[in-house]
Amino acid sequence: MLPEDQEKLLNDIHSKVIEYLSDIDIKPNKTEKEIRSEIDLSIGKSSDLNQIKVLFDKYLEYSTKTNSPKFFNQLFSGFSTTGYIGEILSTITNNSMYTYEMSPVATLIEIELLNKMSGLIGYENGGGTFVPGGSSGNFLAMLAARHYRMPAVMNSGLFGVSPMTIFVSKDCHYSMIKSANQLGIGTDNIIKVDVDKAGKMIPDALDHAIQFSLNIGSTPFFVGATAGTTVRGCFDPIQEIAQICKKYNVWFHIDASWGGSVLLSEKHRNLMKGCYQSDSVTWCTHKAMAQPLMCTAILFKNPSILESLNDVAGTEYLFHNKDTKDPDLGKQSLQCGRRVDVLKLWLAWKYYGDSEYGKKIDHLFSMAKYAESMIIKSKILNLISDVNYLNICFQIKPDGMNINQVGIFTVAVRDELFKNGDAMVNYAEIDGRICMRLVTVNFDLNTKHIDQLFSDIESNAYKLLTNYI
Ligand SMILES: Cc1ncc(COP(=O)(O)O)c(C=O)c1O
Repeated sequence: MLPEDQEKLLNDIHSKVIEYLSDIDIKPNKTEKEIRSEIDLSIGKSSDLNQIKVLFDKYLEYSTKTNSPKFFNQLFSGFSTTGYIGEILSTITNNSMYTYEMSPVATLIEIELLNKMSGLIGYENGGGTFVPGGSSGNFLAMLAARHYRMPAVMNSGLFGVSPMTIFVSKDCHYSMIKSANQLGIGTDNIIKVDVDKAGKMIPDALDHAIQFSLNIGSTPFFVGATAGTTVRGCFDPIQEIAQICKKYNVWFHIDASWGGSVLLSEKHRNLMKGCYQSDSVTWCTHKAMAQPLMCTAILFKNPSILESLNDVAGTEYLFHNKDTKDPDLGKQSLQCGRRVDVLKLWLAWKYYGDSEYGKKIDHLFSMAKYAESMIIKSKILNLISDVNYLNICFQIKPDGMNINQVGIFTVAVRDELFKNGDAMVNYAEIDGRICMRLVTVNFDLNTKHIDQLFSDIESNAYKLLTNYI
């Protein structure tokens, strides 16, 4: 039984959570100095539960409010009730994903989700595992590709192995570059293939790059396409890339960390047409499927590679299932202990069903298109990239402004929006041009929120204009 004071704290916290979620305002960040002076960060002395409650309140007060419809800054936003329930359940049961014995229900849920997601990709007998994020998924895909091409490296290491080449696009996520380092391939052995004006990998350029690699005696072993690039939300031409990978027998990975959710939408799944031809797909549901961080699957056409690359000595103390047929998912995971990330996704999918979940994704697309239309209508905003998905990249360029000032001005307006608590929107660079990157990923967004955002962008821009013209 819980002691009375702990039970009271949990009840207080529950009502505070409801209060927090009904307030949608974002506040500008406090400075480091302010936070240090207002929250006692030091550890050492004990505290009572009243002090813990104060810390709880302060944490809520000073943390970025990502559930707000004014938060457009990242590739995730919003609040999921089923996600929250899933997280509570995961925490209070505190199961660990390595063995069936340890986490029977979660194991079966994970298998169900992996089958479902593999099926949406179009893999016939696919499977995979859940990992702590898109970066981890991309890493595991690259490791699998290396293991497939050079299985002996698992024991002998890379000493004495001739160079190997990785191919990604210039717009790929940086986790690809990090993975090359982590795997001992080396970042010099990555070829960043050119993209076209829209930001899509150019298939001919990929073909040439693979030939170049072969000519210099380096083994092409991994092509990483992106479905939903981080800045522009662009989808690489999957079918053409698949043909090239087939021609050279190179592992074909799709980083669909951001764009994988289009597979839920009948209207938009053609953006990933041909994805069944890949060997692996990373898919983050904590991005456009509204799950709390983290909830990422990495799916493989042939999942047996996972057991092969995880087959090391010393696991007998954990996996006792020699005489049973228990599915121990830990045998397919790089982690030992692993939290239950699947419960929240499973509950959300049970709640929406395929059709409603697909409609939610369609709604995000329509919010992006609405934002695009606001930019096209505006006299001072310029789109600087096509809107393919949920990323809307634009600059603020009032008449008479020197072209060299536009990027700086756009960022100044962005900072002012945040300082005033109007909105939080990120910025990025495309072909040397700094722009705002607006992301419409919150399921609760409606046109009024977008109208308000653009009204705030314009009023802040006019307010700052005199300093720039
Ligand atoms: C295309 C793409 N891949 C991978 C990642 C990394 O995902 P995570 O933050 O879950 O590691 C991101 C992050 O934004 C991304 O945009």
